[in-house]
Amino acid sequence: MAPTKKVFIKTYGCQMNVYDSERMAEALAGGGYAPTDAPDNADLIILNTCHIREKAAEKVYSELGRLRSIKEERARADQETVIAVAGCVAQAEGDEIVRRAPVVDLVVGPQSYHQLNTLIARNRTTARPVVETEFPEDDKFRHLPARAPAPARTHTASAFLTVQEGCDKFCTFCVVPYTRGAEYSRSVAAIEEEARRLVAAGVREITLLGQNVNAYHGENSKGGTASLADLLRHLAAIEGLERLRYTTSHPRDMSEDLIAAHRDLATLMPYLHLPFQAGADRVLAAMNRKHTGAEYLDIVARIRAARADIALSTDIIVGFPGETDEEFEATLDIVRKVRFAQAYSFKYSPRPGTPAATMERQVPEPVKIARLARLQALLEEQQSSFNAGCVGRVLPVLFERQGRREGQLIGRSPYLQSVHADAAPGLMGRIIPVEIAKAGPNSLSGVIRAA
Ligand code: SAH
Ligand code: SF4
Ligand code: F3S
Repeated sequence: MAPTKKVFIKTYGCQMNVYDSERMAEALAGGGYAPTDAPDNADLIILNTCHIREKAAEKVYSELGRLRSIKEERARADQETVIAVAGCVAQAEGDEIVRRAPVVDLVVGPQSYHQLNTLIARNRTTARPVVETEFPEDDKFRHLPARAPAPARTHTASAFLTVQEGCDKFCTFCVVPYTRGAEYSRSVAAIEEEARRLVAAGVREITLLGQNVNAYHGENSKGGTASLADLLRHLAAIEGLERLRYTTSHPRDMSEDLIAAHRDLATLMPYLHLPFQAGADRVLAAMNRKHTGAEYLDIVARIRAARADIALSTDIIVGFPGETDEEFEATLDIVRKVRFAQAYSFKYSPRPGTPAATMERQVPEPVKIARLARLQALLEEQQSSFNAGCVGRVLPVLFERQGRREGQLIGRSPYLQSVHADAAPGLMGRIIPVEIAKAGPNSLSGVIRAA
């Protein structure tokens, strides 16, 4: 269908949402919508939301306030605007959103994106808000249009590909099992087909996504089950696919064959995001993580034995209910022992409906703030020193986007660092050796070396 209308999508939260937003745009192309960057120009505005922490969820309501004025302004010019809330806040709050923000026309959970065009049509004919947050039995991936060659705008050398969704682990602080439902893995064949399509469209690097990506257990072509390591080995054979990554992993699913894949597969990049959340065993048990601090350190040692230069990244929560000063020290202790290349750290945020939200001995805000500051100072120091260690090395960089300066491109090193270099525009989408000359806390810069 030739596009006659415009859609603006704003994405919050994790990479799964980034992937879902692209798929929504593709589904909506079938309904006559072309993407736009300007919300005040859009006939349809979608907020793809995140519920993981309170701040993330609250952002949605302040954004809806702004959208209300856009909708009113457009109405004065006789233009209709459909406002939709998608993603994890949609799933968690359902019709509560419409009650709190009557400007919303459509609430749609992550399992129902393939129905978007139908749901919009229903809203237009009934002139009533539509809320669709059921978990249908069938596979949403099957109903989404086969991934079309990416439109020029989103055409980059690196792409996300969701292989696994949902979570059955029920960490006591986390909303994901409620917003994304039970764990589900796509088949190897469906993933391979999508990967081949991406590579044909010029993609050189694919990051396999899942809330628990290393718990992946999809059907293989022989009717058996493939592990994430099997899947990686299979995809590594695709010609033109030069880099593979995966995220996010759980320590409990860091199996021997996956660790071995880091030793064996040259296309699997030496980078692993492996959240440990907290250092003290009592806190880990209360979080329902089902591993100890020592077990985490043991996994790290085994991964480093398989791939010595691997860059490690993690997620950490400070101020989980009951966390004492000594227990927080145990978190710092793990950080000191591992030495991370990168990390995300958060103050514990009580989420409605999760067991930890009603636990006793909630940690006061000032204590959380102080712990987070100490932790982040240590993590920043580690990240800077990891980056500084790259100076003088020649790293292969996949150039992905234009730099701020004319004649400059920005790409990624194998360790996922941003690397800036003066480079001809023709090098976009290619992997080029760069001699690293300078390191900052968040990026590197260097000079292209003749291959
Ligand atoms: N599946 C991943 C995590 C997905 S959520 C895993 O198990 O590791 C991303 C990160 O958000 C988590 O790793 C955790 O550090 C953080 N997070 C989740 N719920 C939170 C909460 N209630 N408060 C603060 N941080 C939280
Ligand atoms: Fe949330 Fe835990 Fe599942 Fe990760 S493993 S998504 S933290 S419940
Ligand atoms: Fe947020 Fe949902 Fe991702 S809660 S982190 S967008 S799975």
